[in-house]
Amino acid sequence: MQLSTKHLLGIKELSPEDITTILATAQQFKEVLQRPVKKVPSLRDVTIVNLFYENSTRTRISFELAEKRLGADTINFSASGSSVSKGETLLDTVNNILSMKVDMVVMRHSASGAPHFLSKHLEGIPIVNAGDGINEHPTQALLDAFSIQEKTGTLKDKKILLIGDIMHSRVALSNIYLLKKMGAQIMLSGPPTLIPKHITEAFDIRVEYNLTKALQWCDVANVLRIQLERQNQVLFSSLREYNLAYGVTQHKLKHINKEIIIMHPGPINRGVEIDSDVADSGQSIILQQVENGVAVRMAVLYLLAEKKSNN
Ligand code: CP
Repeated sequence: MQLSTKHLLGIKELSPEDITTILATAQQFKEVLQRPVKKVPSLRDVTIVNLFYENSTRTRISFELAEKRLGADTINFSASGSSVSKGETLLDTVNNILSMKVDMVVMRHSASGAPHFLSKHLEGIPIVNAGDGINEHPTQALLDAFSIQEKTGTLKDKKILLIGDIMHSRVALSNIYLLKKMGAQIMLSGPPTLIPKHITEAFDIRVEYNLTKALQWCDVANVLRIQLERQNQVLFSSLREYNLAYGVTQHKLKHINKEIIIMHPGPINRGVEIDSDVADSGQSIILQQVENGVAVRMAVLYLLAEKKSNN
């Protein structure tokens, strides 16, 4: 199966068939990654630039590893230490890099829509969104879906709870698009100030402000980071009070009568949105999510390269 799209700008632009194709391809790459020789030459002679205008640990390393596992040549660009500080525009920076015969761009940017902007100005170069502002983080949602499917067998009808800072979370928006398209049930929980009505109304999503009740409802709880760096006003009283009301703690989990799966995209604020004894427990699949990220990103890069060569 071929993807319907030339870029991965967001889950919004993918069809359910695209998502199924990416997850099935990721499964094949996951099997490759279990072998003693973890490399396949699928992207030999393809050069990919990882263009990071915003900090990252997981996504950046995961893309670089995925590219190397596929045999691609990779270049890593950080805005800090580059000529961006001298006033060079995004488009000039990218055009200069592309003139050195680069074939694909992976980009993280603090501005929502930055990869969409690039895709309109570059001819024939697949763009992969590695997180744009508060808009989308499509490969995170894909690796989350892969991890849920791996653990539970299916996404359809699964009860997925997203907890916390929905307002500033590109992970939340990409997860909502994907879970809706794949037939999962979604609930949101968190302070009312961090759950915008435009999201709950647009997607017709249930909200439960009592976290213990929400945890009782779900099969899987995806705990989101409180993004203090994106909040320019006070949206809850204190981190301690946030932890008391909306932190996922062993105390709250003991009050529900089933074992749910705990996820977090990282980085974790331990003791704020999740306690260490939950993050490090047997219920948590946080590190499996990171592991699965490499196979999912291999699938995305492979399928976009295939789409480009067939056009
Ligand atoms: N989950 C995630 O995007 O983490 P990084 O910011 O470290 O890439």
